[in-house]
Amino acid sequence: MRLANKVALVTGAVGGIGSAIVHALVAEGARVGLVDLNAEAGKKFQDELSAAGHTVFYVNANVANFAECESAHAAIKDKLGDIDILVNNVGISPKHDGRALKVWEMPPEEWDKVVSVNLNSVFYMSRLVTPGMIQKREGRIINMSSVAGKAYCDIVAAHYAATKAALIGATRHWAAELGEYNITVNGLAPGRINTPLLKSVSQETNDAVKQVTALKRLGTPEEVADACMFFASDQARFVTGQILDVAGGWLMT
Ligand SMILES: NC(=O)c1ccc[n+]([C@@H]2O[C@H](COP(=O)([O-])OP(=O)(O)OC[C@H]3O[C@@H](n4cnc5c(N)ncnc54)[C@H](O)[C@@H]3O)[C@@H](O)[C@H]2O)c1
Repeated sequence: MRLANKVALVTGAVGGIGSAIVHALVAEGARVGLVDLNAEAGKKFQDELSAAGHTVFYVNANVANFAECESAHAAIKDKLGDIDILVNNVGISPKHDGRALKVWEMPPEEWDKVVSVNLNSVFYMSRLVTPGMIQKREGRIINMSSVAGKAYCDIVAAHYAATKAALIGATRHWAAELGEYNITVNGLAPGRINTPLLKSVSQETNDAVKQVTALKRLGTPEEVADACMFFASDQARFVTGQILDVAGGWLMT
């Protein structure tokens, strides 16, 4: 087991990609703190994993709020120990009848919400876990960007693209700041992955993406989790500040 005795914290932990990452982390022996807004699914997921013999702890929190991140982090640290691996997975991509709003249509409240959830939460959680990692002289941070943060993609709105691009900047910057403490910071840029997030657009739109994807199919959450495990494990100990596309050759940024 590659992650025995490690403690991980995953945001958006009960969603499509988040839950696959949690499954992969516990399979490698990590104890995992699950942070998500969806309390019903969160408790159910915690019960399922505990019944299977894994050590997990679910905390209900809105990660767009720093005080809630602080409480969630403190509760997980108290229960499982200092965080060794932070997976900033949470993300939302609001649509209206399957359509992403243009700049002149966008309500400022929707823009602010996407920035808070997709970007601010990543700063909040990273701000909270890094003092412990610096003290230990070890840590892994993995940020969930998107190919839409690297190339124009008409399925998403600019708020989503802007936050995912911002995560690439933050990933490189924090990699430089934290490298001397043996903390790596990397990012994943998934393409179209088969999760509940996908249902926000029509079947035709998703089929059209398949046609322009080299591998002619959508990705699975497990395929993103596999890439995440590379960054989380010792195999990537000399890899930092990198963004890995997990997109089957879509957009090829
Ligand atoms: N699915 C894709 O095709 C795709 C492609 C590229 C990038 N991504 C990124 O991967 C990540 C996971 O996406 P997914 O497809 O699994 O999404 P998902 O909708 O299946 O899961 C998102 C999870 O985040 C939780 N969440 C939402 N807002 C929250 C908040 N304020 N506080 C706490 N939890 C909150 C939800 O309850 C849900 O469990 C996101 O960052 C997304 O942008 C997804």
